[in-house]
Amino acid sequence: MKISVLVVDDELLIRKSLSKVLRARGYAVEAASTGAEGLERAGTVRPQVMILDMRLPDTDGLSVLRQVRQIDPLLQVIVITAFGDVQSAVEAMKLGACDFLRKPYEMEDIVLAVESAGRNFRQASELDLYRRQAWRHYSDEEIIGRSVPMREVRGLIDKVVRSQATSVLITGESGTGKELVARAIHYRSDRAKAPLMEVNCSSFHEGLLENELFGHERGAFTDASETKKGLVELCDGGTLFLDEVAEMSLGTQAKLLRFIDHRNFKRVGGAQDISVDIRIVAATNKDVEAEVRAGRFRSDLYFRLKVVSILLPPLRDRSDDILLLARHFVREFARKFQKGFDDLSPEAQRLFQIYSWPGNVRELRNVIERVVLLEEGERLEAEHLPAELHGRGGPLAAAANDSLSLPTLAQIEAEHIGEVLRLTAGNKSRAARILGISRQGLIEKLRRLRVEEGVGRQVS
Ligand SMILES: Nc1ncnc2c1ncn2[C@@H]1O[C@H](COP(=O)(O)OP(=O)(O)OP(=O)(O)O)[C@@H](O)[C@H]1O
Ligand SMILES: [Mg+2]
Repeated sequence: MKISVLVVDDELLIRKSLSKVLRARGYAVEAASTGAEGLERAGTVRPQVMILDMRLPDTDGLSVLRQVRQIDPLLQVIVITAFGDVQSAVEAMKLGACDFLRKPYEMEDIVLAVESAGRNFRQASELDLYRRQAWRHYSDEEIIGRSVPMREVRGLIDKVVRSQATSVLITGESGTGKELVARAIHYRSDRAKAPLMEVNCSSFHEGLLENELFGHERGAFTDASETKKGLVELCDGGTLFLDEVAEMSLGTQAKLLRFIDHRNFKRVGGAQDISVDIRIVAATNKDVEAEVRAGRFRSDLYFRLKVVSILLPPLRDRSDDILLLARHFVREFARKFQKGFDDLSPEAQRLFQIYSWPGNVRELRNVIERVVLLEEGERLEAEHLPAELHGRGGPLAAAANDSLSLPTLAQIEAEHIGEVLRLTAGNKSRAARILGISRQGLIEKLRRLRVEEGVGRQVS
């Protein structure tokens, strides 16, 4: 994308020379000689960068700055102030100017300032686009569940979104919906229009995470050829989601603690304190108290993070929600893949409820996505479901409260053989290998099963 620059200056000579130099560097340049004309051009041309002289014939630069920032909050404004006029430079930066230069300036300084403003614009617009897409996508995301613990979770979210800065710690096994809850907290709060930044603490080595969070100054280390803003700075006004927070090194924990206490930080290699207003939401599937006891997690940080703590119980402990979620996902994927599925058969429902769901809601969702994609029909049937849902635990668990209906070994064997044959599409050699018997042995068993089946039929 070609960056376009609008020069607002009443001196013809300056307009001409700036236009010439910037065009030679590949920028599209427009010029205006008064504040009113500048505002008009900014509205029609929609430049990405504006060079604005603070002293204009018709109005003062600050009021132009204030108005253009309203027309386009992403516009990067470089202000030019008279020699010695520190006050208006400070005012301009407060109003959101990205840079300022004092007269007289070198052409090379202007070019550098425009380059950096162009980079700022790109970064800001990427963020803005991401935010708008995310907003559309997530603002109506539903948290399904009528079980008592899920009602409590929803109640806590409702409270938390009303207090803008409270830190929240979300715990629960993998796939229980921690990230979903984090997004709900952000998108349902007044911070929704500001960014939600996510960082997975386990994917960075010591030092790198600190750099990712707090950014660095140019020259802070060998590779730091440019100043880089960290996530904490980029999500000012919004929410920082620290996923897998228990994996954070002790060194970074100390930095984070300092940030939480002071609400400001220094970029790596920087001297200046930068203040931001963010909410921290952290998540982990580890037992943080055990991590604290083992000396791997600072207890003071733990207490700062869990001002409100939300525990997502495993899916097997909220069986009331399983069918609710299952139906929700069946309909979601039926819509997505344009299939006719609308519900689950009673037998499929039974299998869903007795299965232990080690991968929690994520596993449930994946199972349904796969079935709806691969199978056809109106109802999801038991035979559509993968082996583990028919698993050995299945019939046992189903009958656990009723010892009279416990299956016999032969029944379990028959069921298991049937399942393996289904998975291998009837290939007896492969099935036999999986079952750990010879092909001949399998054929033998099958013959016997058929005989028993036949006998059973005769008897009944
Ligand atoms: N209550 C719920 N209602 C609807 N969808 C849910 C619910 N809980 C979880 N999900 C869905 O299940 C999937 C897994 O959830 P999520 O990614 O939030 O889990 P997580 O706890 O962050 O897991 P991990 O610890 O592995 O990162 C997502 O697709 C999420 O949308
Ligand atoms: Mg997650």
